[in-house]
Amino acid sequence: MRSVNIGLLGCGTVGANVLTLLERRRPLLESVGVRVNVAGVLVRDASRPRDVPPGTPLTADPAFLNECAVVIEAMGGIDGPLALLRPFLASGRSVITANKALLAERWDELRGYALAGELYYEASVMAGTPIIGPMSTVLRASEFRRLQAVLNGTCNYILTQMEGGRSYQEALAEAQALGYAEDPPTLDVGGFDTAHKLAVLARFCADGDFPYSAIRVRGIEQVTLDDVQDALRNGERIKLVAELRRTPGGWDASVEPRRLPGTHALCTSGASRNAMVFEGEECGELFFAGGGAGGMVTASAMMGDLLDYLIGFPGHVPLH
Ligand code: NDP
Ligand code: HSE
Repeated sequence: MRSVNIGLLGCGTVGANVLTLLERRRPLLESVGVRVNVAGVLVRDASRPRDVPPGTPLTADPAFLNECAVVIEAMGGIDGPLALLRPFLASGRSVITANKALLAERWDELRGYALAGELYYEASVMAGTPIIGPMSTVLRASEFRRLQAVLNGTCNYILTQMEGGRSYQEALAEAQALGYAEDPPTLDVGGFDTAHKLAVLARFCADGDFPYSAIRVRGIEQVTLDDVQDALRNGERIKLVAELRRTPGGWDASVEPRRLPGTHALCTSGASRNAMVFEGEECGELFFAGGGAGGMVTASAMMGDLLDYLIGFPGHVPLH
């Protein structure tokens, strides 16, 4: 049995569930010959009581990273995690992250590590619904045409609740209480989180260097209860849709609220779920749907990444 030291950055909605799942999956880890030792869990306030396994080494001091072979990043933000991950990656060690903002906006620094297979980020888009795995492997065999997707659980939850008559503010507060929303939630409702995710995806199917700044973004802040109810009366639903398509002039990427027929594939998934229609020349039209936000669904994807790392599979490699 080999022992592997891992570190965890963040012990909030996602990080706490990663710890729970690590305990639950110890027999699976041992079946592949690995005993995982959590060397440290970084938080801002280590004295705050938390629902974590007994003996969890909570700390506000990231020095434990020196002892780790791999780190799981679930703290959020951009420059804070990057300052910790930069030396870690530079020393040849691997990172597992759910942080799409970091990936989208600091790709110039991270792309080389992703190309080297040292970055694992299944959880960053559609949380526990595997999409980065297929897009970084089998789907590359087809010529990419277009994707349309609902990628933000908070917005989907808000719009679905508004269909039931709840106000925008009530629904947003509920999404925050459920742990779906970013800090600040402007990232969700302004469409930026969806654009971060679209940038991550575009690098597997359009351009390995696809810039986040190339995406036109409009969020759901201006969508009213009347708009949502009017769509429903006409057999339609309003969704925050991410689209990436090939045009004669190059790639076109956008995020905006759209009225879709109620029968559209993107309208069939439930409140906090995500969905994607992927169109490739040879693979045809594919549909992916499932949990797109929430602590345990996200932790499940990070645990999958950890297993891949431990078995020796590379991380998610974008287009060269
Ligand atoms: P939370 O706000 O619930 O947790 C963040 C954790 O990071 C907290 O434990 C916090 O410490 C710690 N932290 C934040 N900043 C610092 C810092 N500067 N120094 C030390 N510790 C810090 O966030 P989530 O768990 O919801 O999200 C984490 C990441 O996962 C984000 O990148 C998010 O986008 C991504 N993600 C989230 C999903 C979700 O459904 N929530 C789904 C998919 C991805 P403390 O507890 O002491 O405040
Ligand atoms: N805030 C994000 C969402 C979390 O609501 O989809 C999952 O990435």
